[in-house]
Amino acid sequence: MGGGRPGLGGPRIEKGQNKFSFKDFFKLINRVHPRYWQLILGVLLGLIGTIANLIVPQLAQRLINNFKNLSPTIIVVTIVVFIGGLLISSLSGLILGIFGEDVVAKLRKNLWQKLLHMPVSYFDNTKTGEVSSRLVNDTSQVKELLATTLPNSMTSILQFVGALFIMLSMDWQMTLIMFIAIPVIVLALLPIMQQSRKIGRKRQDELANFSSDATSVLSEIRLVKSSNGEVAELNNGKKQIDSLYNVGTKEALINALTSPVTNMLMTLMFLGILGYGAIRVMSGSLTMGALISFLMYVFQIMSPVMIISQFFNQLSKTSGSTERIQEILDKKEEFVADKREVDVANKPLRLEHVSFSYEKDKPILHDVNIEAQPNKVIAFAGPSGGGKSTIFSLIERFYQPTSGKIVIGDENIDDIDLTNWRKQIGLVGQNSAVMPGTIRENLVYGLEHEVTDDELWRVLKMAYADKFVKESEDGLDTQIGERGVKLSGGQRQRIAIARAFLRDPKILMLDEATASLDSESEAMVQKALTSLMKNRKTLVIAHRLSTIVDADRIYFIDHGTVSGSGTHEELVKSTPLYAEYVHNQFKK
Ligand SMILES: Nc1ncnc2c1ncn2[C@@H]1O[C@H](COP(=O)(O)OP(=O)(O)O)[C@@H](O)[C@H]1O
Ligand SMILES: [Mg+2]
Repeated sequence: MGGGRPGLGGPRIEKGQNKFSFKDFFKLINRVHPRYWQLILGVLLGLIGTIANLIVPQLAQRLINNFKNLSPTIIVVTIVVFIGGLLISSLSGLILGIFGEDVVAKLRKNLWQKLLHMPVSYFDNTKTGEVSSRLVNDTSQVKELLATTLPNSMTSILQFVGALFIMLSMDWQMTLIMFIAIPVIVLALLPIMQQSRKIGRKRQDELANFSSDATSVLSEIRLVKSSNGEVAELNNGKKQIDSLYNVGTKEALINALTSPVTNMLMTLMFLGILGYGAIRVMSGSLTMGALISFLMYVFQIMSPVMIISQFFNQLSKTSGSTERIQEILDKKEEFVADKREVDVANKPLRLEHVSFSYEKDKPILHDVNIEAQPNKVIAFAGPSGGGKSTIFSLIERFYQPTSGKIVIGDENIDDIDLTNWRKQIGLVGQNSAVMPGTIRENLVYGLEHEVTDDELWRVLKMAYADKFVKESEDGLDTQIGERGVKLSGGQRQRIAIARAFLRDPKILMLDEATASLDSESEAMVQKALTSLMKNRKTLVIAHRLSTIVDADRIYFIDHGTVSGSGTHEELVKSTPLYAEYVHNQFKK
């Protein structure tokens, strides 16, 4: 592994636990209401197929022993049982396959819906690669156990017990020979199988790590290049590829060992039984048909042994997956349904004694009191890291205050339907986030109603964005690339403003919306923002003096507290820290 990687490393895959609990497993499976009748039908058909499998050697024995005067019935019966058994077995496989796919699809839908409704704090503390591995790998693992391993084990047990029983009744001495041989074979293969399991798992883990590391490096390729990180990343990658190579060659060696050892041991056993059987046939105490039939059972009894020995391995793998999926499904969602819808227009927004910390014992905001009247511009100023953006996050309800409350009119915002609340808020941030896709898709993203092209052009015009969109080759259908890389910062920002116009929010929050722009695009964006701020309640985290001076009220936020509020003139007089801040920030 690329040990000691700085910064861009992806999640490490942790080992699953070994204890498997059927109770937990079926608790998880029951959540998605699987079509159990398919499972039962599939297993039943599998068992019927197995029984047919067990009958075939018996029929073969009769065919061989009566080779000289065969009755047509026995030929027909043999063919019907043989082909019928195959058909039934494959039908069972098909039904179980459909059953498994249904379970995995439902499980994934559940997880996906859960993940999208997880609060922001969950994503602060979880790596994206880990989450997608739950969604893809762990669900597959659960399906594998449910739809393949469990049914296969059931049919295997029947096959094993059935074959054993028949063999004993046919010839207990030969069965005994075989039963001395089987444990020897299993014992000889056990260490090899164990090694191969270990290596298989190691390869999986390393592959997952390699792919997640590569993904994070490639998605931050600009950072890699601008910091000349190519050499370091090349070495990291080479190390991982080399260690994958080592694991792969070990695996190849083990595979190469397994098959000759198995073949040799099987051949020895086969020859032993054949030799002993041949003597018995010559002495007349065993028919030729019985010998061949017996040998067919020998083959039939081998694969159940293998499958059952893999069963416990699968169980332990799945127990980790079950636990990880369950953990996500048990988490609390940010949505609590059935809350009231409230029109927030013309109502004052107040933070009352709000305190907040992202992590326990690391308070960020203390006793913050803020009031924002309708149709007023409220500005937040203060040193970086003071907690201004955190206040916005609380208003967006990305997080919940640890104490105190946020109210609109007389209503605690926690009691308002979350979708309804967020619909009425527009947030334009410093680095406007965009989705990969076209300009049109970005504008209407999340909107429920249809929007005409005229409407789109109107908001683009209001955001001073119509010109560059018109000049792009495909107009509204121009692809903007992943994270909007095909747009300049100013263009991205104006698309975000056009989005806000389209939504016509009652409360507008601007978080240093022009801070990262050059002065030319800043002028454009500022014009657009000024018209967007008209006639709505606006909270703005200001980084330009003019915005601050023009605001109806300013809150100076320092170290998580409001250390002063009022108009610019009032604050300059009342709060020396503010005067100093303005002086330092905006001196030319
Ligand atoms: N998601 C987060 N998890 C933990 N701490 C955070 C998180 N976001 C911000 N912080 C911390 O909260 C403090 C206030 O940050 P922020 O509200 O972004 O300040 P401002 O916007 O005033 O510059 C900072 O010390 C920052 O490190
Ligand atoms: Mg900030």
